[in-house]
Amino acid sequence: MAFRYLLMPFDLIQRKNPGRDRAKRGGPADGGRPAYGRLGAMADGSWYDADIDHVIISEAQIREKTAELAKQVAADHAHVEDGLLLVCVLKGAVMFMADFARALGRHGPPAELEFMAVSSYGQGTTSSGVVRILKDLDRDIAGRHVIVVEDIVDSGLTLSWLLRYLESRSAASVEVVALFRKPDAVKVPVPVKYVGFDIPTEFVVGYGLDFDERYRELPYVGVLKPEVYARS
Ligand code: XMP
Ligand code: MG
Repeated sequence: MAFRYLLMPFDLIQRKNPGRDRAKRGGPADGGRPAYGRLGAMADGSWYDADIDHVIISEAQIREKTAELAKQVAADHAHVEDGLLLVCVLKGAVMFMADFARALGRHGPPAELEFMAVSSYGQGTTSSGVVRILKDLDRDIAGRHVIVVEDIVDSGLTLSWLLRYLESRSAASVEVVALFRKPDAVKVPVPVKYVGFDIPTEFVVGYGLDFDERYRELPYVGVLKPEVYARS
């Protein structure tokens, strides 16, 4: 176990979600859940503030960028008559999908919201690009203009598979809007037309992104303190 933590920074960069297999490794006596936050921190603000080492992108920056991206997408698709089909890949992109769709509503053509869930087969938790569909689209997308709404592009493997899949279902066009991109990590070139922020190759949480299913509700994106991993 100690060996794991010594390797933590590299480990976090390599793995999609370092907490994913923690349940298998066993956890604290309270049913495997790490203890989040401290009572003092809860009195001062949100429970998670004490767990965050530093904020990478603030709530205001996300709001501003989302409006900007929505304006661009709206301008580029003003001609689309039957509306846009937004496809969100659960769960990470859920916050961005909700805010992006509302921002798009102020400028753009009508949009329909679709959700997919996929699981990436890989060695350990590293993405391999081989993807299994857990929840498929609820409708036919043939002839539709599709915008994939992504939280973060890391290796690009999942997205590259998804784009091929959507194209195979005869969409009229498929484009991607991603709020975050880790440029150093991109293994396969994926055409992401709209990118919010390029962020460092660090494991981040918040605004939909999780560590062991926690921290998704943070309104900003940040990096966890090392001791959060150590105590889990
Ligand atoms: P690819 O195939 O591009 O997968 O490697 C991208 C997906 O990996 C997840 N991901 C992260 N999740 N913090 C997270 O909570 C991160 O720093 C991070 N980097 C990648 C995410 O689900 C994304 O859609
Ligand atoms: Mg995702």
